[in-house]
This record gives sequence, C-alpha cells and structure tokens, in this order.
Amino acid sequence: MRRVALPLGAGGLVLGGCAKSPLGYLDSAGPAAHEIAALGWGLLAMSVVVALVVGGLLLGALWRPRAAIAPGALVRANDATPIRWILFGCGVSSVLLLVAAVWTLVAVRNVTRPAAAGLVIDVTGHQWWWEVHYRSEQPSRQFTTANEFVIPVGVLVQVNLRSADVIHSFWVPKLAGKTDAIPGVDNVARIQADRPGVYRGQCTEFCGKQHANMAFFVRAVPPADFQAWWSTQLADARADIHAAGAAVFLAKCAACHAVRGLPAGGIVGPDLSHFGARSTIGAGELDNTMHNLAAWITDPQAIKPATLMPNPDLTPSQVAAVTTFLEDLK
Ligand code: CUA
Repeated sequence: MRRVALPLGAGGLVLGGCAKSPLGYLDSAGPAAHEIAALGWGLLAMSVVVALVVGGLLLGALWRPRAAIAPGALVRANDATPIRWILFGCGVSSVLLLVAAVWTLVAVRNVTRPAAAGLVIDVTGHQWWWEVHYRSEQPSRQFTTANEFVIPVGVLVQVNLRSADVIHSFWVPKLAGKTDAIPGVDNVARIQADRPGVYRGQCTEFCGKQHANMAFFVRAVPPADFQAWWSTQLADARADIHAAGAAVFLAKCAACHAVRGLPAGGIVGPDLSHFGARSTIGAGELDNTMHNLAAWITDPQAIKPATLMPNPDLTPSQVAAVTTFLEDLK
C-alpha cells in the first residue's frame, strides 16, 4: 500500500502546485470555474480508479499460474469465461463514459446558460493585446482601457467578445472557461469572482507570432472600490504637468494611441489613459517600470518582434520625456 501512496501523494503535490499557479484552473474563484474544476477533479478521479483497476487486473493476469496443458490435450474453444470478462469490462467502461458524458454536458449547460449580468463590458482581441470598453447609459461615463480591467466581486459580468483581426480566445482560468473571439461574430463570455484578487487571463487560440504574449489581468474588488475605480478612469490627463512629454506624445504617438483629455484619439494601439496604473507593458511582456518603458519605446520590435508598434525614432531625451509623461498617467 505504501508503494502506491507515495506516487499518489507526489501527484497530489504537483496538482496542488498547478492549482496555485496564476493559470491553474483547479483553484477556482467563480461559479463557472467551480463547475469546471469539479468536473476536472471528477474526471481525474474516475481516470485514476480505472487505471488502477486495469493495472491491477493486468498484473493479476500476468502473475496467475497457468493450468498445465498436457501434450496433445484438446483446449476447449467455447469456454464462456473470457467472453464474460469482456462483456463485464465493456459494461463498466460504458457506464463510466456515460457518467462522464452526462456530467460534462450538464457542466457545459450550467456555464453557458444566459443569465442577467450586473455589468456588461466589450472586449476586443487584437494582435496582440486586449481592448476593454466599459459601457454606460451616459456617454460621458464610458471609457476604454487595455489589458487590465476591474470587476466588482460577486457580480456576474457579461463580456461581449469580438476580434479586430484573427481568432483569439479569452480565458481567465480561475473565473471561467474559454470563449473564442472571432472576427465578425459576437460571442459572450460570463465571468464572476467570489473573492477579491488579481486573476490572470491568457489568449488561448494561436493567433500569430506573439500569441504567448497576449496576457491580461482581471482585478476583482469590492463594489464600492469598483465605482471609485470607474470614476478614476474618467479623469483627464494633466498635460500641463509634463508638457514636454505630452508634446512628444502628441507628435509621435497620438496617431495610434488615445489619452483621455488630450487631442489624442488613435485607436490602432491600446488606449493609454491611466497607463501608469497598469502592472505590465505589451500585454504581460514586461513589468511596467520606467526603465522597461523607456526600452520598449526605444525599440519595441526588439522586445516583442512583429508587434504592430513601429520603432518611433525618438532621441534619448524625447524617450525620457514621454516615459515620464506616460508613467505619471495613474
Ligand atoms: Cu490572441 Cu493568441
């Protein structure tokens, strides 16, 4: 028994470690994710039991002493015992597969069932970043951000998914399953977080050279904090504080990037209003620090090859000015 317990214990440790990793779906934090994690554990348990039983029977058969057959003796071809074992094995397999299939279908129905959402946001996949738009009845309270967004804890969030170019897939493993973002198709994902935290998301459909660097982060906060965050997002940038950096931004960056409060409305690249409050640069590519941002602005193609951002050809002093300006957009 001890020989079996050791590998199982090690397996448990490995699975526990996976669950705690940022993309570990077994450590679920929302209703849809709980359903998927339970199904995952259930199918794993069934598979382990089947593997142990089949392995045990195989070993038993290998070690079983064979009846000696006398030379010249006739072996009966119509012995029903082997047939009975085959029927028994097929029967057990069928029942287990049926249970797995029904459980899977019920789980899929539960996680895709339409439900009244407390918040609706629009998420668009781009090569290789995520555009996030918050709707409001009042146009002045709408805003757009990128790659990092906030949701209120305990509220079902409907994510309307679209793609600006190729097929991407939206996945926050701890909150819900995967949903594709397909050009020309309106898809819906539903996410809900039970507890505050930062949940990492990842594009999970191969979408080109930087598919792996298409991460995003969902921060779940108490509803009051969510309203405060929303109000913060509506604030305009103070261009007067870093006039030199703002001037470089308007001259060199504003054709592609928007910053709220400036005459900068580019929609090709991510909206950079409140960029300084984000934790990463380039959809999870680099930590958001002054040093990394300066390196990114100097040569984005070296850091994220094939990104649509061209090298902007700035002097070192222009890079420093625009870096300071962007990092101060909290
Ligand atoms: Cu977008 Cu992979």
